[in-house]
Amino acid sequence: MTQISGNADVPDMGRRQFMNVLTFGTITGVALGALYPVVKYFIPPSSGGAGGGITAKDALGDDIIVSEFLTEHISGERVLAQGLKGDPTYVVVEDGNTIGTYGLNAVCTHLGCVVPWNGSEEKFICPCHGSQYDSQGKVVRGPAPLSLALVNAKVTEEDKLVFTPWTETDFRTNEDPWWT
Ligand code: FES
Repeated sequence: MTQISGNADVPDMGRRQFMNVLTFGTITGVALGALYPVVKYFIPPSSGGAGGGITAKDALGDDIIVSEFLTEHISGERVLAQGLKGDPTYVVVEDGNTIGTYGLNAVCTHLGCVVPWNGSEEKFICPCHGSQYDSQGKVVRGPAPLSLALVNAKVTEEDKLVFTPWTETDFRTNEDPWWT
């Protein structure tokens, strides 16, 4: 009798456990589903970039619209934008009024002042201690020890500009990038 009663209990326990698992799974699924928008809210959007990229923004914090930008700037200009990690980054306007494939981090490699572009001298000249960089950001006068850091710049199909980290060889020195 004991054995019969034991056998009879086994399916009951199995069914109860199965129902528990089912209920737990359902509640967990519903909870995860409800949490998804909350979690997604706290994950920054990719901004259309790949590999840690960010959409370049103007001084007002709006996305740069490349076609509009190029009507306002001329070949040879270097224009400040907000770049990776919020760093001030120059957009390079190339000959032929196109956007350069690289941007320049505007932070002086000496002690971190933001280096303004001097259009008439076609150089970046740091107001803090006089370091100078050529139009591609290569250091040409100290005390700055290094050239301005590069970023990749790419125009998207949506007419925006995306900066991504530059991990390739520094084309100005043919050396590995010092900033990675
Ligand atoms: Fe630019 Fe010193 S911070 S030269």
